[in-house]
Amino acid sequence: MITPPHHTTAAPVLSDSFGRVINNLRISVTDRCNFRCRYCMPEEGMVWMEKSELLSFEEITRVTRLFAELGVTRIRLTGGEPLMRKDLHLLVEKLSPLPGIRDIAMTTNGFFLAEQARLLYKAGLRRINVSLDSLDPVKFNLMTRRDYYGKVWEGLHAVEALGIRPIKLNAVLIRGVNDDEIGAFAYLARTKPYIIRFIEFMPIGLGDGWTNEKVMTSKEILETIEHETGKKLVPVERRGDQPADRFTFEDGLGEIGFISSVSEPFCDQCNRVRITSDGKLRTCLFSLGETDLKQLVRGGATDGEIKLAIKDAVWKKEPGHLINQPSFTRPERTMSQIGG
Ligand code: GTP
Ligand code: 5AD
Ligand code: SF4
Repeated sequence: MITPPHHTTAAPVLSDSFGRVINNLRISVTDRCNFRCRYCMPEEGMVWMEKSELLSFEEITRVTRLFAELGVTRIRLTGGEPLMRKDLHLLVEKLSPLPGIRDIAMTTNGFFLAEQARLLYKAGLRRINVSLDSLDPVKFNLMTRRDYYGKVWEGLHAVEALGIRPIKLNAVLIRGVNDDEIGAFAYLARTKPYIIRFIEFMPIGLGDGWTNEKVMTSKEILETIEHETGKKLVPVERRGDQPADRFTFEDGLGEIGFISSVSEPFCDQCNRVRITSDGKLRTCLFSLGETDLKQLVRGGATDGEIKLAIKDAVWKKEPGHLINQPSFTRPERTMSQIGG
């Protein structure tokens, strides 16, 4: 039977002026963190948002429902450290049944997973990416300024025990700090159910000491892996909407990903927007402007008015970041305030 146009069941599509389809919403639930990763925030002096500034779980759920009605299908919870937000599984419980939402994921430092992974899984969280910048406890301390290496591994084992697959580990390599661990990460990718993703160091932290020279590029890392393992990396077909270039080893064991935000930006395929924990819509990690959804939500705006504001902002999504250009301006917010 041919469906008449006014009864069409076609899924809604949220798109920008460059024809990119936005189906992925990253929601930061808190700017707080119990780590102090050196690429992200300074050791002392972080000032956190007032709790009243944060969107409540009810407000996040309403905004997510509106995004889903516009075409978003995938949600990723981020922070700061998302599990610093009390009872996060209750938010997952509210988001899971929303019509149109097909995928709920989280990016975390792993500290609280040993206690919370089961609750989160039961609530509907199915994909967990964990930041792990070193496989050496001493160097882990140097990167995160916290002595929590063992605790993160307890968390990873809890996730493994639940059968969640794949588990993605995100590693930011900084030249001269943890760039000697490439071989160890490659070994882990070949022997455990982890996909290791190397993320190029971006100029977005506060006091991160970023310089172009400190960026370990994906190309350098790939060459080192091949040299150290004696195995060639073979590209795996990439889903157009993922930032990572994926590879397996020539014998098919293990997977490695590269997120080359600095050396090979993937902005022309970007499918995502972000909401900060205080309810601002950012159409790019490096946006210099924001749309205040919280003000609309708390000011009594109707669903229609909020959806219009979202569509307007998304339409104006910037073509991409300008990291490699002289006119590049760092956003005023840090990664922990934006959500990674
Ligand atoms: P899946 O593909 O769904 O697993 O998610 P993901 O890889 O997007 O999620 P994750 O939070 O693990 O992202 C890893 C890192 O990629 C982030 O911490 C950022 O450093 C980087 N990243 C994610 N999204 C963007 C983006 O839109 N722009 C840039 N430049 N970097 C991004
Ligand atoms: N460069 C690249 N990635 C970063 N992240 C945070 N700050 C930076 C940065 N300056 C990413 C890391 C971390 C996640 C929360 O955000 O992957 O694991
Ligand atoms: Fe915390 Fe993540 Fe920033 Fe590290 S990168 S300090 S874990 S928010």
